[in-house]
Amino acid sequence: EEKPLWGGRFEESITDAVERFTESVSFDKQLYKHDIMGSRAHATMLAHQGLITANDSYQILSGLDEIERRIDAGEFIWRKDREDVHMNIEAELTNMIGEPAKKLHTARSRNDQVTTDLRLWCREAIDKIHARVRHLQVALVKLAVKNEGLIVPGYTHLQRAQPVLLQHHLLSYVEQLDHDIGRLINCKDRMNFCPLGSCALAGTGLPIDRFMTSNYLGFTAPMRNSIDAVSDRDFVLEFISLNSIIAIHLSSLSEEWVLWGSKEFGFSTPNDSVSTGSNIMPQKKNPDPMELEKSSRVIGSLMTLLVLCKGLPLAYNRDLQEDKEPLFDSVKTILDILEVSAEFAQNFTFNHAKIEKALPSGHLDAAILGDYLVKKGLMTPIDRDQTLPGLDEIERRIDTGEFIWRKDTEDVRVNIEAELTNMIGKPANKLDTARSRNDQVLTDLRLWCREAIDKIHA
Ligand code: ARG
Repeated sequence: EEKPLWGGRFEESITDAVERFTESVSFDKQLYKHDIMGSRAHATMLAHQGLITANDSYQILSGLDEIERRIDAGEFIWRKDREDVHMNIEAELTNMIGEPAKKLHTARSRNDQVTTDLRLWCREAIDKIHARVRHLQVALVKLAVKNEGLIVPGYTHLQRAQPVLLQHHLLSYVEQLDHDIGRLINCKDRMNFCPLGSCALAGTGLPIDRFMTSNYLGFTAPMRNSIDAVSDRDFVLEFISLNSIIAIHLSSLSEEWVLWGSKEFGFSTPNDSVSTGSNIMPQKKNPDPMELEKSSRVIGSLMTLLVLCKGLPLAYNRDLQEDKEPLFDSVKTILDILEVSAEFAQNFTFNHAKIEKALPSGHLDAAILGDYLVKKGLMTPIDRDQTLPGLDEIERRIDTGEFIWRKDTEDVRVNIEAELTNMIGKPANKLDTARSRNDQVLTDLRLWCREAIDKIHA
């Protein structure tokens, strides 16, 4: 029986059940490349600082190369009694090269090691997701170009609202994905700091060079606070929150395409390559692949990690080992979702004739007609000079609690507008020119959030 690397003071080995309960190598072995990368940086730095000899470092680096080769080739034997990816690699290295391997753990703990590995892994995962989002955007733009000029009904509340160009509709998804890309880039920049040197939590008294390992691994800088470095998994939380947002964007897109493919809409005919059939109803061609809501897994992973981190005291806690499976599953699932979504876009055909035939129903031109009439009575400077003081007065009344909010006028906007009409009459009606409650409420919300963020920040 081999003693674990930490087994110095232990006389008995752990029970089988405890071993099964605590091991993580069965899933964290996918961090091996990043673990080896981190060890290379660390060994190189230790030698540079004179903490190990050049020969030790040479043997460690060659040993790590050989281990990586074996893992790549599937020859490496992962052992659960060696607990996790870090100890599997280190124990094997010790088997291979002996004494020098034991010095690799100088000024390092698994606590800073694991979060370094994770940051390296996430950084790469973000690049992969980024590339797939771009690929999907290209597929959507191509679909828009292929159907250039096609006019479709636009919906609000799933009721026909106004005619829009299909391009306009599809490009709204491209835009949403652009928000996602921006968030991914920010998230990667924020996580790109190096925990190495934090050791268990308090750093080390040895003369290490944290900037050297940080540079070697392509991080922006070493992390400032060692306790923060080994404790916080906010970078994982942020990352899988973004995945959840991407997932819900795409769940809307695919559900819409499921609707469009129904007989009731008839906008498209599902393509064989992205549909499945039914065993009992031979006439069926189902949009199952688009329907399959894998977004639930991505959201579920986020919930798991939030619950895991909630209330954890500083610094490293073993609970944190449970961050990996939700992270890995979130990334795998979002990559799959992005890949198939691009294939849906590449295999989507619109029934132009059917859409054009259905277009006249639903009074889609009502708003345009409204615009025409409005143009005849647009707001004049005189109207404006009544409207602005009217709004000032309403604001004053609300501030002082004199304003009477009425539920029968539904929401804040109608309350204010109805009151304005009471006060100044006709000009108030013109305030709604070229505006809907749909753009209004979102403008209000963005202004509100902007202020709220400033307050929270402060
Ligand atoms: N397998 C552990 C994890 O994933 C590594 C760190 C363990 N550290 C410890 N002191 N037990 O978090």
